[in-house]
Amino acid sequence: MKVLVIGGGGREHALAWKLAQGERVQTVFVAPGNAGTAADPALHNVPLTDPAELADFVAAEKVALTVVGPEAPLAAGIVDLFRARGLRIFGPTQAAAQLESSKAYAKDFMQRHGIPTALYATFTEAAAAHAHVERHGAPIVVKADGLAAGKGVVVAMTAAEAHAAIDAMLGKPGERVVIEDFMAGEEASFIVVCDGRHVLPLATSQDHKRIGDGDTGPNTGGMGAYSPAPVVTPNVHAKVMHEIIQPTLDGMARDGVPFTGFLYAGLMIDGQGQPRTVEFNCRLGDPEAQVILLRLKSDLFEVLMHATEGTLDKVELQWDRRIALGVVMAAHGYPASPRKGDVITGLPVVAGADVEVFHAGTAPQGSQIVTSGGRVLCVTALADSVRQAQQRAVDVVRQIGFDGAQWRSDIGHRAIRH
Ligand code: GLY
Repeated sequence: MKVLVIGGGGREHALAWKLAQGERVQTVFVAPGNAGTAADPALHNVPLTDPAELADFVAAEKVALTVVGPEAPLAAGIVDLFRARGLRIFGPTQAAAQLESSKAYAKDFMQRHGIPTALYATFTEAAAAHAHVERHGAPIVVKADGLAAGKGVVVAMTAAEAHAAIDAMLGKPGERVVIEDFMAGEEASFIVVCDGRHVLPLATSQDHKRIGDGDTGPNTGGMGAYSPAPVVTPNVHAKVMHEIIQPTLDGMARDGVPFTGFLYAGLMIDGQGQPRTVEFNCRLGDPEAQVILLRLKSDLFEVLMHATEGTLDKVELQWDRRIALGVVMAAHGYPASPRKGDVITGLPVVAGADVEVFHAGTAPQGSQIVTSGGRVLCVTALADSVRQAQQRAVDVVRQIGFDGAQWRSDIGHRAIRH
């Protein structure tokens, strides 16, 4: 069977790598892919991004299943387009993808369905938003209403930061911000596979959003991740399923927008083990996907075929019991202005079977590979402990070089503390 993965980041490399291991899978196309998917003999890059052209390609190649990696094509309605043409695709419809593409929609949905989250207010007028910050003080959270590649959220520790965020996010007609109470606790990523009615939790994970060691510096899309997340104890897991995930799936179905696809609940878990929802994403996390998929032993193709048939209740997932940990290597200037075109040395790496180097912002240039985006690579390793997995990943990171490379040596520090 043929499979298409849409996207070109680290998450999509990991998805394609895992799908290619499927027993019934003969070919995995990646559109547009990156230098890592180009170099893998099991994968084939396709230079397409336009949804209609992708649908034509899938129809012509008789692709059995399309899997969408990033949020942008989902928010643009690629699932609706494919379904209208009778093509099998895994992901949420445009209406369901609003759980990620509109923070205001998501907050309103959570309030209506009693899903635990922070109190919030939505604003289109800067003056009213500023007045709200004056009344409530800091810390406070300001979110742009729309897709912002994980960077449209400012956790303002001072009122001045909140005011600056409002000014940066509001101004043009139609722009909205959601301002919500600050939630204290530890974050975790809880990602599930949904078929509209049934839900199958993936292994838990946690990412590190700040650029620098010790969680310092600006927010990024994620500088590393590990799985499982020890903060999600069996008790917390049961609460998340019962109080957040199942009510979300049921609520979406009741609202007439059944959710199919990966549903990612970003959680804040307080000191009493009470989870609340920070945000929803309608896709796998990046770099969470890289660590989760490295631990998945089941055949992902079969899982997602069930998900597109509404039979996820027939599936049980098998996991590697070890820890997976991924260290992102980011470009010079990331996140503000990542530089492209730096030559990457040391690839492919010499590493054991328990290490995978997933590419993201990489491109072939003649016989070399160069940086072509903010997050360049995610070196992902399996080991019996977080410390060993961290060591294994960092050892491989040190074999790879490019000018201005930024990476963190402390990924997993919260799990080590646990
Ligand atoms: N790592 C955060 C995200 O994928 O949104």
